[in-house]
Amino acid sequence: MVPMKIAVAKGRIAEKARELLTKGGIAFPDTLFDERKLVITSKDGDYQLLFVKASDVPTYVEKGAADIGIVGKDTIMEDGKDVYELQDLGFGNCQLVVAGFPDSFPVDTKSLTVATKYPSIAKAYFDKAGIHTEISRLSGSIELAPIVGLSEVIVDIVETGSTLRDNGLVILREIAKVSTRVIVNKASYATKTTEVKHCMELLKNGVEGRRADNHNA
Ligand code: PRP
Repeated sequence: MVPMKIAVAKGRIAEKARELLTKGGIAFPDTLFDERKLVITSKDGDYQLLFVKASDVPTYVEKGAADIGIVGKDTIMEDGKDVYELQDLGFGNCQLVVAGFPDSFPVDTKSLTVATKYPSIAKAYFDKAGIHTEISRLSGSIELAPIVGLSEVIVDIVETGSTLRDNGLVILREIAKVSTRVIVNKASYATKTTEVKHCMELLKNGVEGRRADNHNA
């Protein structure tokens, strides 16, 4: 059969995704995480992992270059791509927050300067609150922005909180809780329903296997 293509976000969640897929029963060659390989095929030839930048996963899935994607909810929210979101994998739990120095977001604020990797989410959040924003889109080291005066606040994800702490910043508002999700191409879901459902089952087995391991640890 034609392999089921799974786009996996490189970075923090890639290792977790590998653990999950393996526990779900998908065996890959040992070269799985050879940094330079961008496509790996499972030993049975049924699955292909595509290693892509997290922010590109929804595009691969929407366009059908991948049938399935594994990526953070924050990226899905920011992109607003036309895909099905089918499963919460229960790892990569983070908060999407407004952060800054302690007094940088008074309750009566009417306008703010914001630095973020998530301009769409930030705009929607502040628009809803009736706050005018000037948003600077950055691609990393977001916490630097308030320190050097590029922005009053940031919108970013927080996992352990150590990056905020180490830079003297605090959470000012929570926008959403986010975690790693499975997204599916709409045409793939319609035309390869059995294969997609089987893959979801394998991922579910992986999640349950991981939970069982944690429980027994
Ligand atoms: C993310 C995020 C924060 C940090 C939060 O950055 O943008 O900077 O992680 O994690 P923590 O709460 O555990 O400290 P990432 O590590 O992806 O690096 P980046 O600055 O290159 O975006």
